[in-house]
Amino acid sequence: MSSAKVILEGNEYELPITVGTEGEVGIEIRSLRKLSKAVTLDEGYGNTGSCKSAITFIDGERGIMRYRGYPIEQVAEQSSFVEVCYLLVFGELPTSGQLEEFSDALTRHTLLHEDMKKFFEGYSSSAHPMVILSSMVASLSTYYPPTTDETLDLNILRLLAKAKTIAAFSYKKSIGQPFIYPRNDLSYTKNFLHMMFANPAEPYEVPEVLDHALRLLLILHADHEQNCSTSTVRMVGSSGADLFASIAAGINALSGPLHGGANQKVMEMLRRIRADGSNTKKYVEMAKDKDSDFRLMGFGHRVYKNFDPRARILKVAANRVLDELKLDDSLLDIARALEEVALADDYFLERNLYPNVDFYSGFLYRAMGIPTNMFTVMFSLGRLPGWIAHWKEMREDPNGRIHRPRQIYIGETERAFVPISER
Ligand code: CMC
Repeated sequence: MSSAKVILEGNEYELPITVGTEGEVGIEIRSLRKLSKAVTLDEGYGNTGSCKSAITFIDGERGIMRYRGYPIEQVAEQSSFVEVCYLLVFGELPTSGQLEEFSDALTRHTLLHEDMKKFFEGYSSSAHPMVILSSMVASLSTYYPPTTDETLDLNILRLLAKAKTIAAFSYKKSIGQPFIYPRNDLSYTKNFLHMMFANPAEPYEVPEVLDHALRLLLILHADHEQNCSTSTVRMVGSSGADLFASIAAGINALSGPLHGGANQKVMEMLRRIRADGSNTKKYVEMAKDKDSDFRLMGFGHRVYKNFDPRARILKVAANRVLDELKLDDSLLDIARALEEVALADDYFLERNLYPNVDFYSGFLYRAMGIPTNMFTVMFSLGRLPGWIAHWKEMREDPNGRIHRPRQIYIGETERAFVPISER
């Protein structure tokens, strides 16, 4: 297959084709407007490739997801989050020497500039931690030089290292406790849990089971090709905006309830169902009712039409961790019941609606003691290497152009302006 033909009002136009390494076919429509004056219209970009990318491959029909070619199941089982950061950002698995160097550098950059602590004082204690995270990430650009070829690697390290400190400090701020500084003898994941849960009166020994759970969560969230927040990062970055500004924009995009904000909403929904007598059938019926604006949060996905491989792994992990810690979580029972009712229902089957990554992740966060309003911040920490990898890939693309979609205008046609005195 080398080209596609479009017939428009009897005229035939030949368009070139790009085929990806996994056989995905893209019809290149860039010349269409020049040739025919027509543009393509695809609201929500459901069938539009916005770039070529070599980072993550997803086959939604077959439930396949791979980072740089490595199946997510293998990465989740065998890798560390720091290794995944390296893989996504630099394209290859590190040697042990490269990993050690990268990991050391990340540890050394974990401290925040002391002046940045003053920002936290200014936020109200009820501020949502996602808002704090995005503004603090944008603020990093006021402390560090712009991202150029010379500063690229260093700014990437700074961002990966400091975001978790910002996240932990925003939590400490919200509960009125003093900030806990990072420790250079701890791993990336343990350091984060230490900053979250230690306090001056009591050290925090990170339970291994929770360290593993956090590693798994971060890895599973690390990239997901052209989703809303990643496309935002690429879109903002395509104008030449700096790394910190582009990632801050991605964090804001992630905060929405249809995207990363869904993990918080899942927990709120389950609490609502529990408070209402745990009647899961009633809520499944509500989700199907087109007159109700209720949706099953944590269900459905634009790309996965079979199952979300991340959700499968997380469901098993949530059951295992809760068993191991002997935690009884009544919300998990409701989630299981909800899934069972929904997956036996034609509405969900016909529309291929399955639990997504956000459905079970919250149970692991809860087991760690992470409050619900921090769930999307946790998603951000995981997604950070993916956003960075995409920003870097976009920046290094020799054919890269500013992202600037077209539209089909549906407003008034030309009309004469009416002065205010005549209206
Ligand atoms: N509950 C009930 N109905 C649903 C749901 C749901 N969760 N999701 C989709 N549908 C229905 C929808 O009403 C539509 O029905 P119809 O064809 O009769 O109009 C059909 O399924 C297709 O849905 P869509 O909204 O056109 O699909 P989309 O690809 O635009 O949206 C989605 C994908 C994830 C935004 C959507 O499934 C949703 O809102 N899910 C709940 C929020 C959620 O869990 N988001 C996290 C997504 S995964 C992680 C991430 O990206 O951050």
